[in-house]
Amino acid sequence: MSENALTSGDFTEENEPYALFGTWLEEAAKTEPNDPNAVALATVDEAGLPNVRMVLLKGFDARGFVFYTNFESQKGVEILGALKAAMCFHWKSLRRQVRIRGEVEIVTDAEADEYYASRPRGSRIGAWASKQSRPLEGRFALEKAVAEYTARYAIGEIPRPPHWSGFRIKPVSIEFWHDRPFRLHDRMEFRRTADGAGWTKVRMYP
Ligand SMILES: Cc1cc2nc3c(=O)[nH]c(=O)nc-3n(C[C@H](O)[C@H](O)[C@H](O)COP(=O)(O)O)c2cc1C
Repeated sequence: MSENALTSGDFTEENEPYALFGTWLEEAAKTEPNDPNAVALATVDEAGLPNVRMVLLKGFDARGFVFYTNFESQKGVEILGALKAAMCFHWKSLRRQVRIRGEVEIVTDAEADEYYASRPRGSRIGAWASKQSRPLEGRFALEKAVAEYTARYAIGEIPRPPHWSGFRIKPVSIEFWHDRPFRLHDRMEFRRTADGAGWTKVRMYP
């Protein structure tokens, strides 16, 4: 893809969304002050009430977009209930947005183990110590839990908690948005074809 196509938001050369997403993420890594992989994750609870919070994208390929969390957290429970979610990246420094919607699957144990093992020791202990999204009576209770797990796993490998793993959003649509003057932005949505094998591109009014 030419530089001109990228800066103009002219998506004519793109036939699938992943290469373009990769280019945009790489560019964001050069320009964003923090966490270019930070993404808003939207879920819906049992009553149909939406919920949104940030997570960190930890991988993507033709299968979808992966992040890791506590499956007993609010988001974990909501995703396991609906098996659907949406994501929205906004790279302020680039004036770009990417929106992703899709069904969700759990990553394989091997995938989760590999990522968990790559995390700093303190983060691996934290995954055991934090009952994410449940009431915490005080900071001391958390520090006590960290101390307990630090002692328990003082020697050897720290196993991955059974309630900690990754979700993969398998997109049915990925929309790229690029700022243009006078709010006449470029928008291009890639939609999964009915057979799931390819993509159709739909340009949209801003
Ligand atoms: C930049 C940023 C990145 C975050 N990344 C993650 C993440 O990858 N996984 C995670 O469980 N929480 C992450 N969090 C915390 C979540 O936003 C949220 O507070 C927490 O997961 C509890 O959400 P829940 O109660 O909806 O489950 C992140 C927060 C911020 C601000």
